[in-house]
Amino acid sequence: MRRSVDGRGEGANGSLWWQDAVFYQIYVRSFADSDGDGIGDLEGVRSRLGYLELLGVDALWLTPFFRSPMADHGYDVADPRDVDPLFGDLAAFDALVAEAHARGIKVTIDVVPNHTSSEHAWFRAALAARPGSPERERYVFRDGRGPSGEHPPNNWVSAFGGPAWTRVPDGQWYLHLFAPEQPDLNFANPEVHADLERTLRFWLNRGVDGFRIDVAHGMAKPPGLPDMDPRADPSGMSSYFDPRFDNDGVHEIHQRIRKVLDEYPGTMAVGEVWVPDEERLARYLRPDELHLAFNFRLVLTHFDADAMRGTIERSLANAQPSTWTLSNHDVWRQVSRYGGGAQGVLRARAMALVELALPGVVYLYNGEELGLGNVELPPEAMADPRARTSGAAHSRDVARVPIPWEGGEPPFAFSTNAATWLPMPEDWAALTVEAQLEDTGSTLSLYRHALELRRDHPAFDGGEIEWYGAPAGCFAFRRAPGGLVCVLNTSASPVALPPGEVLLTSTELVEGRLPPDAAAWLV
Ligand code: GLC
Repeated sequence: MRRSVDGRGEGANGSLWWQDAVFYQIYVRSFADSDGDGIGDLEGVRSRLGYLELLGVDALWLTPFFRSPMADHGYDVADPRDVDPLFGDLAAFDALVAEAHARGIKVTIDVVPNHTSSEHAWFRAALAARPGSPERERYVFRDGRGPSGEHPPNNWVSAFGGPAWTRVPDGQWYLHLFAPEQPDLNFANPEVHADLERTLRFWLNRGVDGFRIDVAHGMAKPPGLPDMDPRADPSGMSSYFDPRFDNDGVHEIHQRIRKVLDEYPGTMAVGEVWVPDEERLARYLRPDELHLAFNFRLVLTHFDADAMRGTIERSLANAQPSTWTLSNHDVWRQVSRYGGGAQGVLRARAMALVELALPGVVYLYNGEELGLGNVELPPEAMADPRARTSGAAHSRDVARVPIPWEGGEPPFAFSTNAATWLPMPEDWAALTVEAQLEDTGSTLSLYRHALELRRDHPAFDGGEIEWYGAPAGCFAFRRAPGGLVCVLNTSASPVALPPGEVLLTSTELVEGRLPPDAAAWLV
């Protein structure tokens, strides 16, 4: 083993476990269902830990399993310090953590500080209280504009589409950057901070190794809540003036979170930070803030070697350590982004080798190791609140369909119940874990092999990369000092490989040459 990590999470050379870890995101609703209600749960995750150990991931990120009316599938939290009965109970969570740790797998969980559910006791109390009351001060309530306050306080739109304000019976409005069932908290209120710290400690004391912080760029709102530029993208990723996200005040919140984590050595936090450039991203990674922040650039870059190289260079130059990801539960699966079908799968396999060759941290999303693409769902099956406000074409459900484990037809042992919360496609029989496990050419075998090499092979040492000249539509880089060479071919013709021993290729070589839509590792 290249890495030896002691109990506190510190490696032999002083590195920390998360600095080059491969995390695996489990969308709990869709991973494994133990009780036959058609919805995944914590016991289901525990029952599949053997698979995750075999796959070779270092750590898990579990999406929200807290008490919730599920308007946004758990990102609307009614009690952040309890497990929703849909997913199990605290005992099931403790059992999952204990068994994961026994298998050498770290457990990190989502925390959702920006908003609560509208069913949270605080929000119910706020609705029952009068304008200006301490109960309302925990959220962002304002009077409206216009002679009788009939217009929202400003022009902000929700990230799911539609206005970011909802009016309550006494005429005031409350802010929700997401669904109306997700009122934004007011972080200028000390009670809100104290409650977040309590939540962090609650789970740290139960043994979690870290957190993924939801909407980590959204918690601070600027004084006066000025209008946004109406051309700004609802998701907050454009460079137009957009005071909804990435306000300077957010950094003080991260400093406070970091202080809590520093009391628990070996723990970490990764932020979901959608900002338009790497310089802004780097601000979240200052030594007293987040340990990691997702770099979503690979998700946003099309399958083109020059574009990918530009993305990688900019990222490595700015925000360290880089936290790479190709997909998650909010975006299209990479197979579909790259065009779908057999070509989409080839390209996704190639990009997996590129991503896993890079220095830094990698987050995988459950199902990508099986080469799953988006699933076409009938509009009536859509459950995502974004589909409601922005239309079925914007539904994230297409990338959230349950995982196929075994057998020849839905529900493929995800559940004993054929009525899974999203329908599973008939044509996934060849993509089940069972079908891929022993097939050396499968996408699952590619991921297993790649993860094993990345973990154990000395060629992956070092945080630097050097670029080589490469034919048009291709790139090649070398990791230093380890020496791993990674080649990507996005052109339409096969290309010769540089000299060296081939460690792994994303598809079979053709007469010793790397075909289009493929990547190779050499030493
Ligand atoms: C994050 C989550 C997303 C959720 C939103 C609101 O972007 O990843 O799934 O809808 O926050 O909590």
